[in-house]
Amino acid sequence: MTKHPVLQNGPVSYAGTMKKIDELFVAHKLWLAPDKLALAKKIGPEIRCAFTSGHDPIPTLILDALPNLKLVACFGVGVDGVNVAELAARGIAVTNTPDVLTEEVADFGMALLLATVRQVVKGDRYVRSGDWVKKGNMEMTWSLTGGKTMGIIGLGRIGKAIAKRAEAFNLKIAYHGRNRQPDVSYAYYADPVSLAKESDILMVVTPGGPGTKQLVNAAVLEALGPNGIFVNIARGSVVDQQALVAALRDRKIAAAGLDVFETEPCIPEGLVDMLDNVVLQPHQASASHETRGAMGDLMIANVQAFLEGKPILTPVKP
Ligand code: 8YV
Repeated sequence: MTKHPVLQNGPVSYAGTMKKIDELFVAHKLWLAPDKLALAKKIGPEIRCAFTSGHDPIPTLILDALPNLKLVACFGVGVDGVNVAELAARGIAVTNTPDVLTEEVADFGMALLLATVRQVVKGDRYVRSGDWVKKGNMEMTWSLTGGKTMGIIGLGRIGKAIAKRAEAFNLKIAYHGRNRQPDVSYAYYADPVSLAKESDILMVVTPGGPGTKQLVNAAVLEALGPNGIFVNIARGSVVDQQALVAALRDRKIAAAGLDVFETEPCIPEGLVDMLDNVVLQPHQASASHETRGAMGDLMIANVQAFLEGKPILTPVKP
């Protein structure tokens, strides 16, 4: 079988996929090259496809050196970190990895919500530190019971999968998005402040990018209120992070579960010391062996389809 040459813009966060790429292609690893531009110029004309994560754009100078690049296959559903418009203008298609991670990410959204509300991480620390022995029972936690409302920002595939799970927890569902969705019966709010006012829990699942930048600001957090729980499994950019830290510090909201940060892996100052009311995760929502493997397989299948002259499987609309 001919091994086609491909450009790998950066590592993808699953070792099994890295191995498969090496087995199936001649993968030129840009991030390892001492002189990236020299590598791009050397291999340029033969490269028709590239792999990247949804967080790493292929630099313009590198694109200039790849005249025959026709497809950039991304690892991840969110492509806010990739220069899709620039690629489209050059006639380069982009693919992502939707659907295969929906259930996993929704599970994680609920896990993070439960961990935050029931203070699971604090409880773990309480046992390990010996406080249980020294001080007796830990104090009471918040609760998901009692007919609470979960407001979802971004009722896409993952948002709907979370709503389904939340219904099983007897939560009421409301949502905000660009448009009301005719096929769902959940209450729709045209702006995030009104949604937050009606919500006990605010769950952010919307795509990142300029259209949602700081959609959750101080006013939204204020509207969520002092008993409100905030969970973000979308992108750090969707939240005004300074406003979030201030709202948590000043107890304008009760607690937060955060899997994503604007400058990850670095997190905003102030969060590290918030042990009682914040649960932090290192962008783990899709990070199971099964799901990361499936994401990698779909990313690779897009490139294989393209190279075989077949339609690509999961194109991203520019
Ligand atoms: C990432 C994600 O892909 O799919 C997404 O949009 O955020 C994750 O699943 C992950 O960061 C892989 O690097």
